Amino acid sequence: MSWMVLLAASAGIALVVAFLLLLYLASPLASPKPLSLSGAHVVVTGGSSGIGKSIAVECFKQGAFITLIARNESRLLEAKKEIEKYSINDKQVVHAISVDVSKDCADMERVLKQAQEKLGPVDMLVNCAGTSVNGKFEDLESSRFEQLMAINYLGSVYSTRAVVATMKERRMGRIVFVSSQAGQVGLFGYSAYSATKFALRGLAEALQMEVKPYNIYVTVAYPPDTDTPGFAEESKTKLLETKLISESSSVCQPDHVARVIVKDAVQGKFSSSVGTDGYMLTILTSGMSPISSIAEVLEAVILMGFFRFIGLFYIASFDSIVHRCMVQKEKSEKTD
Ligand SMILES: NC(=O)c1ccc[n+]([C@@H]2O[C@H](COP(=O)([O-])OP(=O)(O)OC[C@H]3O[C@@H](n4cnc5c(N)ncnc54)[C@H](OP(=O)(O)O)[C@@H]3O)[C@@H](O)[C@H]2O)c1
Repeated sequence: MSWMVLLAASAGIALVVAFLLLLYLASPLASPKPLSLSGAHVVVTGGSSGIGKSIAVECFKQGAFITLIARNESRLLEAKKEIEKYSINDKQVVHAISVDVSKDCADMERVLKQAQEKLGPVDMLVNCAGTSVNGKFEDLESSRFEQLMAINYLGSVYSTRAVVATMKERRMGRIVFVSSQAGQVGLFGYSAYSATKFALRGLAEALQMEVKPYNIYVTVAYPPDTDTPGFAEESKTKLLETKLISESSSVCQPDHVARVIVKDAVQGKFSSSVGTDGYMLTILTSGMSPISSIAEVLEAVILMGFFRFIGLFYIASFDSIVHRCMVQKEKSEKTD
């Protein structure tokens, strides 16, 4: 009798495994059709520096026409010249627009209308303009919370509003929101920054449900620490706790991060992550996020519990860093 139960259980497990394998193999069939960047018009906000500039280079290398958006005109012109070196045909154009993405929705609609008159309708919008600030919650001026929300969140809302109607009419397009690993997990010193990057995820999920029937795919990218001018600037004033916590992962190069983001956006993947930490965080935070492929869902179902277990060690180590820093600070205050 017992061997019959064992046999039935083994057959059940084999059936489940075969079913999962079949789903995994059929996964590419369920994924969106990749977007060709050859001749496509790609708009990159924050395209004059760091990750945004590398994304523009990557798209240009694949034959795209580029509109760069940022505020500082001389940095825009330098970036334009640098990107133009990577052209693969003599028709390609880099168009640069100086505007503050956070100021006014009407402004963004006006400049993106001009860009579309020059280079045609936007096929892919990359919302990369952003900034960060590191500091303890009570030490940060409340205006910093407003400023970060305006640039990192509202700047992405305004730019997206300026292109989404045309994308819907054309029934095609890609919209990328550059969040951060700090948009997946809140860490010491990032109360202002993390909130803006988590907000992008909520925006992206709701928007994806609205635009999917129009063949438009939204990607949220969660870069790790990346060696950019913005990162160097932030590092100058980084709190000791944040520094020690960040040391648990290495700093990536912007070109590598950009290649991953562009590849995932072209394929219509909802979440884009870099490296093992990024993969683990994306599985852990997948929750009710849109489904890009069956393979991804299966990976999440199988790995989530295990990753939650590993994550506990990270959380314990981060908590211990914060506690040690507090004790040390209190000791040195007493001796002063
Ligand atoms: N580097 C990292 O470690 C890291 C990690 C995770 C996520 N990220 C995110 O990735 C994005 C790019 O970061 P990065 O490190 O490459 O930064 P970066 O080197 O400082 O570049 C930021 C870009 O955004 C533009 N920008 C900033 N504020 C703007 C505004 N109000 N209007 C228009 N353009 C604006 C800047 O040009 P102007 O100043 O001339 O306007 C510049 O082109 C940001 O959203 C950041 O939060 C970065």
